[in-house]
Amino acid sequence: MIKFDGVSKIYPKNIIALENVNLDIKQGEFISLVGRSGAGKSTLLRMITREESPSEGGVYIEDIDISRISSKDLPYLRRKIGVVFQDIKLITSRTAFENVAYAMEVGGSPVEEIEKDVSLILDLVGLAEKRDAFPSELSGGEKQRVAIARALAHRPVLFLADEPTGNLDQPNAMEIFSLLKKINEMGTTVILATHAKTLVDKIKKRVVVIERGQVVSDQEQGKYKL
Ligand SMILES: Nc1ncnc2c1ncn2[C@@H]1O[C@H](COP(=O)(O)OP(=O)(O)OP(=O)(O)O)[C@@H](O)[C@H]1O
Ligand SMILES: [Mg+2]
Repeated sequence: MIKFDGVSKIYPKNIIALENVNLDIKQGEFISLVGRSGAGKSTLLRMITREESPSEGGVYIEDIDISRISSKDLPYLRRKIGVVFQDIKLITSRTAFENVAYAMEVGGSPVEEIEKDVSLILDLVGLAEKRDAFPSELSGGEKQRVAIARALAHRPVLFLADEPTGNLDQPNAMEIFSLLKKINEMGTTVILATHAKTLVDKIKKRVVVIERGQVVSDQEQGKYKL
């Protein structure tokens, strides 16, 4: 589904963020991307959404070299991808329900469909009871779950989570990871970038370790050393 073929990324001032990265990610996989701060995890994720382009090599999604997608067609690529970050940006004046619904309203979905889908998604992330709560009334973990729900609203085939648990304690982080696993089990390919190595071990899925822009290990089931 996603292929990195000899991808290097050199930022201005000769900062080498990625160096000859080769990765093959199959549809339906769950991948954890681990590595120290500055290792290149976010850069790698930003290549998939084409927020950054490779200095060398190519990134392919479903066999399409994404550097060839015209800016007109870029929204089609991005619509296939759900993204969550460490810093959650919910609309403070809207409830949990409205934050999730907003993404669908922008997409022009009919009201009845929005009502039905948003209820289902809030149920999925375990927030059915908090649907009318405003962000200020939610805990960090709950806010992150609203952000995940919002990213799921347009039914992405691929879900990217960049350090989604950075501001959460261990139990809340584990809950978010379980939710990502559940999303994966429903058929969505998930790529999770994180420092939370001990939690990644518990997921028991494929782990790709990045050090200074290079993939130094790529193994199933958390059998790796850092
Ligand atoms: N827009 C940018 N311009 C210049 N250098 C950048 C830019 N973004 C990242 N870098 C540099 O590229 C390297 C990789 O950064 P990246 O953000 O991908 O790391 P990361 O693994 O996500 O780190 P963290 O765990 O702290 O989020 C770092 O040296 C960083 O300083
Ligand atoms: Mg990062």
